[in-house]
Amino acid sequence: MKRILLFTIVSSLVFALWSCGDNTPPKETTTPKTEVTAKAETTPNPDLGKKIYKQYCALCHGADGKLGVNGAGDLTASALPETEVITRIQKGKGLMTPFEEILSETQIKAVADYVIAMRGE
Ligand code: HEC
Repeated sequence: MKRILLFTIVSSLVFALWSCGDNTPPKETTTPKTEVTAKAETTPNPDLGKKIYKQYCALCHGADGKLGVNGAGDLTASALPETEVITRIQKGKGLMTPFEEILSETQIKAVADYVIAMRGE
């Protein structure tokens, strides 16, 4: 009888320790960092498009959109409607890289807005 009691105590201790250890990691994974990134993705940011353009597009299109490397169209002279600009960025065309695997939807929308705004200059 005593042995059974001892076993019960030991196993509930082990269980308590185990569940403690098991509960800790999920708390650690909810770092504030991921929350910040998630917020940045959903909050409209006027500088986001410019940043992405400089990083991913200026290489072929030039800082002002007029470079036209390898037949890249002059973006300031482009007449594509926004939906097609977004498709062009997602799917690419000819020598243009498809960006759907590289950029998020929010980033693509931001950079599309940015290149469309270039036309006004
Ligand atoms: C590797 C070079 C390259 C990169 C990087 C690149 N493009 Fe292009 N882009 C091209 C080429 C080449 C074309 C012309 C494709 C064709 O019509 O055959 C083009 C066409 C376009 C067009 C269509 C213009 C029109 O009216 O015909 C848009 C809009 C555009 N690019 C936006 C972007 C944006 C935004 C980025 C960055 C996310 C980007 N491009 C990155 C090479 C590039």
